Amino acid sequence: MIVNGILLTLLFVIFEFYGLLSANTIVWGPGLNPKIVLPARYFYIKYNQDELNIEDFNVIISGKTKIGNKCRIWTNILDRKDASFLVRYKLYEVCYDLIILVEDLKTHKKHVNNFYQGPVYPDECDCSKMSIDTWLSEAGCKTDIKQINSDLSHFKKIDFNNVLSKMVKFFSQHSHSMSTCQYVVKNNLIFRKCYGEYTGFKMFMDNLLLSLSRKVYLPDLEFFVNLGDWPLSSPKNRFPLFSWCGSNYTMDIVMPTYDITESSLENMGRVSLDMLSIQGNIEKPWSQKIEKAFWMGRDSSKHRLNLVDLSKSHSDLINASITNFFFYKELKEKYGSGKKPISFFKFFDYKYQLNIDGTVAAYRFPYLIAGDSLVFKQDSEYYEHFYNELTPWVHYIPIKRNLGNLVDLIKAMINDDEKAKTISLNGQKYARENLAPHDILGYYLLLFQKYSKLLISTVEVRDDMEAVINTKTQLDCECDNENIRDNSKMEL
Ligand SMILES: *[C@@H]1O[C@H](CO)[C@@H](O)[C@H](O)[C@H]1NC(C)=O
Ligand SMILES: *[C@@H]1O[C@H](CO)[C@@H](O)[C@H](O)[C@H]1NC(C)=O
Repeated sequence: MIVNGILLTLLFVIFEFYGLLSANTIVWGPGLNPKIVLPARYFYIKYNQDELNIEDFNVIISGKTKIGNKCRIWTNILDRKDASFLVRYKLYEVCYDLIILVEDLKTHKKHVNNFYQGPVYPDECDCSKMSIDTWLSEAGCKTDIKQINSDLSHFKKIDFNNVLSKMVKFFSQHSHSMSTCQYVVKNNLIFRKCYGEYTGFKMFMDNLLLSLSRKVYLPDLEFFVNLGDWPLSSPKNRFPLFSWCGSNYTMDIVMPTYDITESSLENMGRVSLDMLSIQGNIEKPWSQKIEKAFWMGRDSSKHRLNLVDLSKSHSDLINASITNFFFYKELKEKYGSGKKPISFFKFFDYKYQLNIDGTVAAYRFPYLIAGDSLVFKQDSEYYEHFYNELTPWVHYIPIKRNLGNLVDLIKAMINDDEKAKTISLNGQKYARENLAPHDILGYYLLLFQKYSKLLISTVEVRDDMEAVINTKTQLDCECDNENIRDNSKMEL
């Protein structure tokens, strides 16, 4: 049975994941695999020709409800402007007889013509869980990540009976400056208790855990999440603590930032900037971009003010402005009282982008490299979960922390446009292939799986913990019970 299952899965992955290959067209992506439930599903179409218009092909995604009506599906095609397209679609109800069709209108060749009897579930439904290993393999996610291995290598084993009281004591003493939550996942149900004055950001972790627990069977877990930006696990206290940002001098276990996590869970919803939308909203091609470095943002570090100074003395090379004053209010006059922000997509009217630390790492970095401009990145002690997979001079241009070599490097890149373009495309390729929503969810799943193996204390819901439950309006999911029973059998 199991062997059969694996074989079928393999065949399924080969056929469905990559789509049908024709001489000129490839269609691939997790959205072709209906078993992988995502907030918005997506796949890619790539033509082996330089020019191809959206009008040249037809994409149909349709299905029926249980009683035979047309299923409500929102479909959106993003032109990546390199003869490739991103198709995303969202189910608003449970669909049967789902058809995914990509057809070339000139030749009437069908590149994908998939049919699924269903049921295919919207993201809100808690109907189709699988093991983490199955999810990762069906979604085509990595199963070995250097950053996870290195973060966890600091802990041979984790015994909460030993660390809990120390952590609680420490965080309670610093409740004005540190906010953390302790989570327990037991039998795929989620519980938490928070410490600190400002715990609003717990909603990001709540949403993530709820979403994951609908997709997979999470292992039993007990862990602390740092809700603030600054990493807090020092070599002295060695707390096993999950943080959104890491640093050269701390030992926090890094997870994708709350920003990219939230946008991965909302990738066709109210958040407009996410790793998918960035791929279809850039107007100017490389040759038409303004040959200047662009930056805009909040005054959350002195470096950013220094950059604005630099842009004043080199206005032919750099356009930089502060949108909001909060940290350096007294300098508001000097730096021009807050420029009106422009859409992030308009940043890419400029050929060069600057990634300058705020209080910690600038969480815009994934979106910057996903664009088609060249990114200059300031040296930093802070990093996000993926930085160590990037190579300076391959994916971005490294600049000194004091920005001392920025002007020279911009000039050098203006004089070597081929190189600049190549590096920009390398960065973009990395982002497209490694930072899509399923990669972000996959990172968490792998992290939780590996972390759970280090836990030696028994995971129990602790006193005073609150259950984390889905408070969003529930769809009528009509879970197919057969399906659930089968799945749970498979897991045993
Ligand atoms: C800087 O960029 C903004 C946004 O594109 C633009 O409105 C402004 O005119 C630019 N400033 C200079 C000095 O070019
Ligand atoms: C932090 O570590 C990275 C990787 O070892 C290094 O490239 C970078 O220069 C360090 N930055 C600071 C400010 O410590």
